[in-house]
Amino acid sequence: MSNSKINMKSWLVSRSRYLAVVVLALCSSAQVAVAENAKPQANAIASAHYLATEAGMEVFAAGGNAFDAAVAVSSTLAVVEPASSGLGGGGLWLLHRAQDNFDVMIDGREMAPGAADRNMYLGADGEVNRDLAVNGPLAAGIPGEAAGFVHLARHYGRLPLAESLAPAIRLAKNGFPVDEKYRALMTNRAAVVNRYPAASAIFLVDGQVPPLGHVIKQPDLARVLESIATHGHDGFYTGPIAQKLVAGVREAGGIWTLDDLARYKVVEREPVRTSYKGYKLVTASPPSSGGIALATMLNILNPYPLSTMTEAERTHLVIESMRRAYRDRTLYLGDSDFVDVPIQRLTHPFYADGLRAGIRHDRATPSEMLPGIESEPGGTDTSHFSLIDTEGNMVAGTLTVNLPYGSGFVAPGMGFFLNNEMDDFSAKKGSPNAYGLLGAEANAIVPYKRPLSSMTPTIVHGDDQVAILGTPGGSRIITMVLLGILEFVDGKPPQDWVSRPRYHHQYMPDQVTYEPGTFDAETLATLESMGHEVKDRGRTWGNMHGVRWNVLTGEVDAASDPRWTSGRSMVEVP
Ligand code: GLY
Repeated sequence: MSNSKINMKSWLVSRSRYLAVVVLALCSSAQVAVAENAKPQANAIASAHYLATEAGMEVFAAGGNAFDAAVAVSSTLAVVEPASSGLGGGGLWLLHRAQDNFDVMIDGREMAPGAADRNMYLGADGEVNRDLAVNGPLAAGIPGEAAGFVHLARHYGRLPLAESLAPAIRLAKNGFPVDEKYRALMTNRAAVVNRYPAASAIFLVDGQVPPLGHVIKQPDLARVLESIATHGHDGFYTGPIAQKLVAGVREAGGIWTLDDLARYKVVEREPVRTSYKGYKLVTASPPSSGGIALATMLNILNPYPLSTMTEAERTHLVIESMRRAYRDRTLYLGDSDFVDVPIQRLTHPFYADGLRAGIRHDRATPSEMLPGIESEPGGTDTSHFSLIDTEGNMVAGTLTVNLPYGSGFVAPGMGFFLNNEMDDFSAKKGSPNAYGLLGAEANAIVPYKRPLSSMTPTIVHGDDQVAILGTPGGSRIITMVLLGILEFVDGKPPQDWVSRPRYHHQYMPDQVTYEPGTFDAETLATLESMGHEVKDRGRTWGNMHGVRWNVLTGEVDAASDPRWTSGRSMVEVP
């Protein structure tokens, strides 16, 4: 399922267009301008679920553009991948509009409710009550995904919202089959889901994880999607849906109000921009930490000839860049509407020069020598898709409910899990002052603030090729995107970005974790001799989906992460 699927008609058309470009290149001095402006020959989508990719293609076939397809893919993921995203969660959609080269990040991140308090998860002992922080409605921020759909369709799409939501509504009514991923992730969350009858009735069978192939129908979710299709933003954030949602949340111990829902808005944000070895990156801005940390790592790595180094030398330098970027994440980053995030400084090449100067080529820098604080790793379940249309419009979308199946809570009659994104705030006792450090303050809980995310939807523009990529994976998202970009810059295809073995360092704990088989014995021994603590995590992580556009030929290819078989990439000439 993970390889690009090109139907025969598409393949023939795409080959003949490719040949035409090559012939032009050989025959005409004007070819450079023609070739350099070659539009994508095909629409391409890579997402975490084949039904979502097919939904996007259906909307392309109906005349939709990339932004309509993004609504179709996102809303279908909300139906068929409830572990990872949904109407009860949020997302960041990074858009590139071809006609005017306009880039924007649509921030549909969740927002703390008005009654939220920085100590709301502390128990009588003054410690964070982990159960309250991640399970049930108190763990949920005000969702942004529905607002994102409406905004995308109204401001960027070509089709009516109802048309882009149609595949998701159909699948919610008709059902989707349970797959291995659903089962694997539900195994760890079923006990919590069983606490809430409205959740277990839909997503479990007699209180158990459903068998493979069991069809899950979601008529309540279909009704909510129809309300959004008919009434737009108000169909979710005011009126009967909002009233029922808030009543269900409060009945179960949550603190949401109708005013919280009514005041939710998506925010259009200027993306973070940086460059690396001649490539221009457009990536996520706060309330995500992703783009800033990515820029820091790439700025540190920029002067190094990584591709000519040994595996151990290269890995050492990449780890040191991760260590420093994640230290800054803990210290400085939060919702930039509430705290002063020094974006310009942190993403400036001169700043990276200073960080690089402290890196020894033969020794790991102990993290404790870099002042900072230990950060909680972010949630692990999220979804990503990448897509492009034949006009050159692009979307990198990362969507989340935080932990698998979010908070495990479904309000009666709503049909979707609420997120537990409040756990992406820093919730420690007395934060920030007990530690006297800015990290806790920058990401402390404040009413209406958005929790710090690691989501890193990214578009990389080169003179010859463009990449669209991203992945779920909590705090590991940013290092996965870094590793994917390094593959792309080395000229490798999307299949390599999404499948390459992964390693990760996040400052604290001071440890390099890696997927089984990532390093050979010699590389591991060299890293250890440099002072790195290396640890086989014993399992894989992430679910990356990427699209590449060759701007010289117009060719497009795409790939979905082989770690989960439900993903699907498709490339189709319209
Ligand atoms: N909840 C995962 C993230 O936003 O990074």
